[in-house]
Amino acid sequence: MNVHDFQKMKDEGRRISMITCYDYSSARAVADSNIDCILVGDSLAMTMHGYPTTLSATTAMMALHTAAVAKGAPGKFIIGDLPFLSYRKGLKDAMDSVHELMSAGAHAVKLEGVRGHAEIVRHIVDSGVPVMGHLGLTPQSVHGLGGMKVQARTSAAVKALASEARELENAGCFATVLECVPAQVARQVTDLLKIPTIGIGAGPHVSGQVLVYQDVLGLNPGFKPKFLRAYANTFEVIRTALNAYDNDVKSGAFPSESESYANLESADRKVTRRTEHAAKNGRGSRITLASDMNH
Ligand code: KIV
Repeated sequence: MNVHDFQKMKDEGRRISMITCYDYSSARAVADSNIDCILVGDSLAMTMHGYPTTLSATTAMMALHTAAVAKGAPGKFIIGDLPFLSYRKGLKDAMDSVHELMSAGAHAVKLEGVRGHAEIVRHIVDSGVPVMGHLGLTPQSVHGLGGMKVQARTSAAVKALASEARELENAGCFATVLECVPAQVARQVTDLLKIPTIGIGAGPHVSGQVLVYQDVLGLNPGFKPKFLRAYANTFEVIRTALNAYDNDVKSGAFPSESESYANLESADRKVTRRTEHAAKNGRGSRITLASDMNH
């Protein structure tokens, strides 16, 4: 997937799947899936760091997580979220943040809203960095919005949303997220725009969907907004595994003999034999060393 595939997929009526991801191990699983692209969302302030809102995300945090995801999913298109106020303090600060995320391995950046920073969006795009927009419920404005509420429910608000969406498209965005807006409004905006819309809580009439990794996997018990479908109960799977481990440790069932190392002399003999065998078969020493931990 590259940035042009987003438009191609909308034009061909193929839906785009996007998921958030914040760390190396999870990125390896996403890399092995059919999901089209990854958002290293500023929601990581909540999911990975336990803050109550996304306002605590910083550029340094975003860059660190983006680098981990890029290492775990080198083949996926990665969008890095510009954090709270990082693109509202002037062009230099915005470009410094963009620079950090792109250097960390992002292929595009995302930012919320457009009023007052359309020029900055245009400058980022003109600098060769693809920009994804984010309209509707913009969590970085949670206090200005008076809470995490469904947006664009009045005709004036729908008009404002449509005009912001157009402004983002004109500024050069390659796609925009639409979060928590009525399904018919999302359809209207999707029809209005040439660029694709990626919905979350925006119904089915959009160009693609995005959900938070922890929510898809059921790792966030108690969080059940109307729009969410959890595809597994991973919290329960993990809890059960942890209790089985705890039980085995306390009963002495773990580790077994086959999970324990032999004494030094017999281990040395095995390593020597294996090293000779690996050398004969032309295998690299790194593989030999790693597999030596199995004996
Ligand atoms: O930060 C995030 O996870 C997001 C998605 C919910 C779109 O912005």
